Amino acid sequence: MASHACKCEGERDLYVPRMAAITRIEALTPIEKLFRLEMADGVPLDLQPGQFVEVSLFGIGEAPISLASINDGTAGLDLCVRNVGNVTAALHNASEGDIVGIRGPFGRGFDLEDMKGHDVLMVAGGIGMIPTRGLIQALLADRDQFGDLILLYGFKSPEEMIFRDEVEEWSGRDDFDVRLTVDRPHPAWSGHVGVVTTLFPDLHIEPEQTKAVVIGPPIMYQFVITECRLKGIARRNILLSLERHMKCGVGKCGHCQINNKYVCLDGPVFTYAEVEDMWEAI
Ligand SMILES: Cc1cc2nc3c(=O)[nH]c(=O)nc-3n(C[C@H](O)[C@H](O)[C@H](O)COP(=O)(O)OP(=O)(O)OC[C@H]3O[C@@H](n4cnc5c(N)ncnc54)[C@H](O)[C@@H]3O)c2cc1C
Ligand code: FES
Repeated sequence: MASHACKCEGERDLYVPRMAAITRIEALTPIEKLFRLEMADGVPLDLQPGQFVEVSLFGIGEAPISLASINDGTAGLDLCVRNVGNVTAALHNASEGDIVGIRGPFGRGFDLEDMKGHDVLMVAGGIGMIPTRGLIQALLADRDQFGDLILLYGFKSPEEMIFRDEVEEWSGRDDFDVRLTVDRPHPAWSGHVGVVTTLFPDLHIEPEQTKAVVIGPPIMYQFVITECRLKGIARRNILLSLERHMKCGVGKCGHCQINNKYVCLDGPVFTYAEVEDMWEAI
């Protein structure tokens, strides 16, 4: 388990948000929007794929949101948000130029060093594609450091697919194997139909050299983990990003605790080997 954070990290108070301006808003689906933020002090955040930030809407509250982008040399970051409640609705009602608060990034993201030299199989369901996008950006930025890259991306219906343009661009690359599926037949969809696990039978991987990354709705995990295990991927090489209700984001309040682990601090990215014993509590 990681050592638990103190209140201050370097010069910064972990509880005090930094201001960020919304510089671009793009509606991706009827309930998901992509926000480009710029840190008001001009200082870039140190963004590690798989980490999250706490976004505050003043007078309303805070919500943990995954990083959807990596460092690009600017003080900007992308967040993609589904409108489900108070904070997320307020964000959806915000306009370009509005100011929000940002704490973080927090948590343990993907260990890119450990992934180097491996094939990477990413299995994303629904808005699990949000942190997966950040990871893909990081893998493609250093493409020759990794082996085969495979993305299995499942969504309920074609309208629910997010990052459509980028997915098309990735599909056109000859060094990235992208396979898509919708849960049920749809008149606007001519591709594969079935839940994301139905893409596994046609998948040929080298289990010894594969890291599998699984991010999606809770119901997806056990089925996808089973498929990964049947392919021969070791527990330590199956990486999961877990979601929990969070408050502080820094290992103090206990809201995100599962047994002896704080998802905000020890995760949100865990290996299956680390969490298998507490799976029932998850
Ligand atoms: C590490 C982490 C990363 C996340 N990344 C993203 C992201 O990139 N994009 C994104 O859109 N969301 C993400 N979420 C989920 C997001 O934090 C919640 O949807 C948000 O906190 C809801 O806040 P709210 O005030 O809008 O909703 P509330 O007003 O608090 O709740 C509205 C309704 O949504 C339900 N709800 C609240 N939280 C969740 C949740 N975590 N999952 C399912 N239902 C919930 C409540 O039970 C309630 O019914 C992430 C969560 C975690 C823990
Ligand atoms: S959110 Fe407070 S301990 Fe994790």
